[in-house]
Amino acid sequence: MIRFEEQKNLFLISNDSLLLVLYITSTKQVECIYFGKKIKLEEALKQRKSYKDNWSTSYFDNKLHKEIDLDDGYSLEVSKCEIGAHGLCDHRPAPIIIKKADGNVETNFIYDGYKVNKGYPSYKTGPHAHDGDVETLKLFLHDELNENIKLIYNLSIDLDKDIILKNFEIINEGNESVEIKRALSMQLDLDTNEYTVHHFGGKWGNERNEFVNHVIDGEQIISSNYGRSSHEENPFFYLSKIDATQDYGEVIGFNLVYSGNFKASIFSNFNKATRVTYGINDYNFAWVLSSKETFITPQAVISYSFEGVNKMSQNFHSFIKENIITYKKENEYKSIIFNSWEGLEMNFNTERILSCIDAAKTIGSELFVLDDGWFSIREKDETGLGDWWINKDKIDLANVIDYCHEKGMKFGLWIEPEMVSPGTELLKNHPDYAIGYSRQKQSIHRHQFLLDFTRKEVVDNLYSQLIEIIDNHKIDYIKWDHNRDLKESYFPHLGPNRQGEATHRLTLGFYDLIERLTSRYPDILFEGCASGGGRYDLGALYYTPQIWCSDNATPKARRFIQYNTSIGYPLSTMGSHVNKSDEASYEVKGYLSLFGTFGYEMDPNTLNNDEINELNEVAKIYKEYHKSLFEDGVLYHLSSPHFYNLMKMEVVSKDQKLAALIMMNEREIKDFSEFIKFKGLNPNAVYSVQFEDIKIEEKGEILMSKGIDGSLFKKTFKECDALLLILKEKVK
Ligand code: DGJ
Repeated sequence: MIRFEEQKNLFLISNDSLLLVLYITSTKQVECIYFGKKIKLEEALKQRKSYKDNWSTSYFDNKLHKEIDLDDGYSLEVSKCEIGAHGLCDHRPAPIIIKKADGNVETNFIYDGYKVNKGYPSYKTGPHAHDGDVETLKLFLHDELNENIKLIYNLSIDLDKDIILKNFEIINEGNESVEIKRALSMQLDLDTNEYTVHHFGGKWGNERNEFVNHVIDGEQIISSNYGRSSHEENPFFYLSKIDATQDYGEVIGFNLVYSGNFKASIFSNFNKATRVTYGINDYNFAWVLSSKETFITPQAVISYSFEGVNKMSQNFHSFIKENIITYKKENEYKSIIFNSWEGLEMNFNTERILSCIDAAKTIGSELFVLDDGWFSIREKDETGLGDWWINKDKIDLANVIDYCHEKGMKFGLWIEPEMVSPGTELLKNHPDYAIGYSRQKQSIHRHQFLLDFTRKEVVDNLYSQLIEIIDNHKIDYIKWDHNRDLKESYFPHLGPNRQGEATHRLTLGFYDLIERLTSRYPDILFEGCASGGGRYDLGALYYTPQIWCSDNATPKARRFIQYNTSIGYPLSTMGSHVNKSDEASYEVKGYLSLFGTFGYEMDPNTLNNDEINELNEVAKIYKEYHKSLFEDGVLYHLSSPHFYNLMKMEVVSKDQKLAALIMMNEREIKDFSEFIKFKGLNPNAVYSVQFEDIKIEEKGEILMSKGIDGSLFKKTFKECDALLLILKEKVK
């Protein structure tokens, strides 16, 4: 609920568990008095600090020629506020910097008025949050240094889940252009710096390692300048109070509905408070805001929990499923995918694919995906990207699709529309479509160039090529890949004044194409991918409800990658396939894959009968439980592979009638004797768990407090082994 107490100049923004109190000072700054667990307003107001004796609480009035106090003790330098000033008293990072026509970069937004709307702000294009029982406070402000620069600050609160969204709309109502030097989406000032920062980075094939450090004195930056959200750093991160645990204490998670360069800054100064700012990276960024134009920043998402990390994750999970993903069939059963890449790579012809479809069917596959290599002259990664025509000498696509459908399987195709290979027709006709074409040393990565999606004609070209294929074939699924990042910074056609717009425009170009295709084909399930998890973010999830989690599908690595990814993202979004790796049995790989979107990647013709049976057993579990547990259930992280050999995760169905717990080790464990404790069960219900010939029945309360003796199920965990327990509520 959002309420304005006019006499006190207070905005009260709350749901059942959260409270945010904003105060409009006498000089019209937007101060943040309280943010956290819901408490009585009187208590929250006691948190307000007046800095009357601080030097920064007065100014010199040049007309009156005297020093004037900011009468309510507001300090531009240290008070907690919602939009810090830049280039004036505040030495902390500001979310927005505008360079005016006269070169002045001082920026300070002053409150003019407000409005409260139902729902999230609605935008016509680009990824944004939608639906939900939500209220949005719109604060209207202007820049003290140029009153024609208006700002709308949108602050939305979900009344059902502890999620807050923030973003800005910068409007130039003047006649002269100004330059936006920084356009972040949010600021959050916190009272203390007693937090640890958790962020998730790595590299190709080794995404989302968890990095943990205390808030430092000074500034810590979590960012990407790779032109996409990147393998190197994911846009999800969180701050946890130093005494917080999985289930206790204050944890504040952050994410951004954006797929391009991002930057979060966590800043702490002498005052021992913390300022978090977050949004589009200002690396090489600048945006010319012409007269009467508006710049809208992506939405920043805050998940607040005073019940530890699990609750913060669960808030994000339901927010992403309900308020980000737009795929209209999201609530339907998701077919088991068989993907051709790891098993066949580009070495196939029609006959081999047909036999692969037959073999894939024997392990329960329901959707066959033909990955890279079906188009143009694409026998290796050096060629073909950008020329989207079917290589009929290699593959009879129409026949393959019909065969799949006759077998009762769906059919999917791989594409990589934002790229181009040297030597293609597309480049012969349009050499300037590739980024960096004008340089003598053009960057090349995985033998390919990035297409210049800042240009509409390039996006149009790819759109026409792709619809020609998709319109004429019955395709049920598309895997959208993106195998290199951005290296160059110079985009000649943008001219000398708009170079700083390039990376954001590139991201908008991606959204333009994917938006056109997903709205033309609403029944097609698009899966995201960027050499695995290089574009795993809320912007991509808006269009692609699942994303291939990593090119490293070996179980030891996936144990980390999937556990950590699921701290910020729902299991239903995590592309996770059983591959041929010999690190673990097919059963173990299958169990891990259940905690994601289940599927396969291997040559299915090489599987022996035992392996086929093992996979079928897991497929049976998937078919029975994936919807209620792995897709819709509530996830609990029990022990992290970073700290424990035995990684543990559990999902509980929303009605608490079912639960599944996976334990997966890396090193061998002999004489396993742990009591396995569950979470999130109905304490009064009796659950049964059956494992081979052992059956146990126990009350939820006992399963969560004392637990069950794990040695009953398994005494030895071999190297890279797993145990999966499924709990069912006993029908009375
Ligand atoms: C990278 C992806 O992550 C793989 O799954 C596969 O699609 C290859 N690209 C194909 O080039």
